[in-house]
Amino acid sequence: MESSSPSYLNPGKASAELIGAARGGDLVATLLARLWTPKVKKRKMPCSLPGQRGLTIAKLIYSAITSLDGYVADEDGNFDWAAPDEEVHAFVNDLERKVGTYLYGRRMYEVMHYWETAQAVTDQPPVMRDYAQIWQAADKIVYSKTLETTSSARTRIERGFDPVAVRRMKAQAERDISVGGPDLAAQALEAGLVDECHLFFAPIVVGGGKRSLPKSVRLKLELLDERHFEGGVVHLHYRIRT
Ligand SMILES: NC(=O)c1ccc[n+]([C@@H]2O[C@H](COP(=O)([O-])OP(=O)(O)OC[C@H]3O[C@@H](n4cnc5c(N)ncnc54)[C@H](OP(=O)(O)O)[C@@H]3O)[C@@H](O)[C@H]2O)c1
Repeated sequence: MESSSPSYLNPGKASAELIGAARGGDLVATLLARLWTPKVKKRKMPCSLPGQRGLTIAKLIYSAITSLDGYVADEDGNFDWAAPDEEVHAFVNDLERKVGTYLYGRRMYEVMHYWETAQAVTDQPPVMRDYAQIWQAADKIVYSKTLETTSSARTRIERGFDPVAVRRMKAQAERDISVGGPDLAAQALEAGLVDECHLFFAPIVVGGGKRSLPKSVRLKLELLDERHFEGGVVHLHYRIRT
């Protein structure tokens, strides 16, 4: 069925117009069509399987809300300053909608477990109810040597972080996988398993605490996207270059 959208919303249609106009020798139409053809920058698919163009595997993504000096929690363990406002929350929701499985360190899981409760779903702004539903719909794997049980649905405990098992999980997953907090993410980064990072810099310097990125790892990054929010948060989306 032919699309009725204007050509500037439909690069394929614009190209067909360009070819048709060129064949008819109408130079003005050719130039107009060329002007209206949006420049679509195609990004390389970072996770294509070798020798199988177009076939992609799930990405492992590390996301964190961090102070400008790089801490997810200050020296007293506080991170109330990192609480996202509605605009940031809605943006995070849209990112996390694509996540099928969360890999959590035990500490991060204990914070995120809040979203399992009914309290998170009722009497909350729509953006929080939305996030609660996203969180509840995803699978969770909690890494811990101490945790005996979990009380959230779709959750299992792993006693150790096995890079081979995570690599296999990535190869088999149909949706992206997320890793957090920083202690667990450091192991995934060290093992070269992380494909992308979403870092949200809150407009605050806390002087010390829990680092969002490990000391021991050196990474080359490609900036894929950036966004500024009204409240002063800046989001940087990076691909990790291999
Ligand atoms: N900025 C924000 O928006 C934000 C949001 C939420 C939380 N936070 C803060 O983020 C921080 C998270 O800290 P974190 O990096 O220490 O936590 P984490 O990575 O979430 O959890 C660390 C724990 O995960 C388990 N673990 C890690 N590696 C393991 C392995 N190889 N095998 C088995 N278990 C493993 C261990 O649990 P066991 O001790 O049980 O073995 C370890 O103590 C906290 O301070 C939290 O308050 C910040």
